[in-house]
Amino acid sequence: MTASMPHVMNTYGRLPIALSHGQGCRVWDTEGRRYLDGLGGIAVNTLGHAHPKLVPALQEQIAKLIHCSNYYENPLQEALAARLCELSGLSAAFFCSTGLEANEGALKIARKYGHDKGISRPEIIVFEKAFHGRSIATLSATGNPKVQEGFGPLVEGFVRVPFNDAAAVREVAECNPNVVAVFLETIQGEGGINPARWDYLREVRQICDEQGWLLMLDEVQCGIGRTGQWFAHQWADIKPDVMPLAKGLGSGVPIGAIVVGEKAKTILGPGNHGTTLAAIRCRCAPASKPSTSCWPTTSWATQPVWAPT
Ligand SMILES: Cc1ncc(COP(=O)(O)O)c(C=O)c1O
Repeated sequence: MTASMPHVMNTYGRLPIALSHGQGCRVWDTEGRRYLDGLGGIAVNTLGHAHPKLVPALQEQIAKLIHCSNYYENPLQEALAARLCELSGLSAAFFCSTGLEANEGALKIARKYGHDKGISRPEIIVFEKAFHGRSIATLSATGNPKVQEGFGPLVEGFVRVPFNDAAAVREVAECNPNVVAVFLETIQGEGGINPARWDYLREVRQICDEQGWLLMLDEVQCGIGRTGQWFAHQWADIKPDVMPLAKGLGSGVPIGAIVVGEKAKTILGPGNHGTTLAAIRCRCAPASKPSTSCWPTTSWATQPVWAPT
């Protein structure tokens, strides 16, 4: 346990600095030292720090209503869902709070898709070196023994294959009738920066179509403009059926989403899935109000966000 934080569980290897504030791409520590923030909260602070539109939009919404239950309609949620659909070409969104939660929901969608088709033990193809989160199901889908060690028994129902190898996916298709989905990061992040080749993505899309599988692309880390397109798979000119998002979606406000296409839109119905805090209204405010939107209207590459020197 580190001496300076004795009451916080020691689950991170921390640097011996504490940040006090930030502005744009700069942060300052409690000793007054200034840094260029190259970490961005681990792919979170897409708009930088103290963004001049994000801060007032959040303040305004918090002062009005910080949270309301999912038992009510939430026009801000609908506006953000519509924006995500417009940007992705997909059809609907489910909101949650974190990346692993978005991925958990995606795994549930895949399993329910299988059950609806009469497959009682659905299986999902996952990848070597993948990272999908640290809940029991998402760490089971993760392809890193270090993340899994000490947390067995792992969740079953995953078939692991090498990344960027379409023949390996085809091989599973030939011998495993229980497969219902392929689940991959468009760019593997935590496992090394390993982008899926565009031709590979196109072929996996084709295999999914041939087999009636869902293509589920984890864009929690590589999505929201980080590659110059809104979503990394757009470089390959394909669409997933299910796309979990989080991290940069809220630029620091904890929001995640599962964005789905027509094939996956109605798999989950009332009572199948839910989460209390996803309805928090301020989370939806910054990105969804056209008049105060903090997000650029085109890709981040063509319209840089605020970054003072
Ligand atoms: C690709 C990917 N998926 C999921 C996650 C988990 O996100 P969270 O830490 O918000 O649960 C991460 C986190 O690094 C990630 O990189």
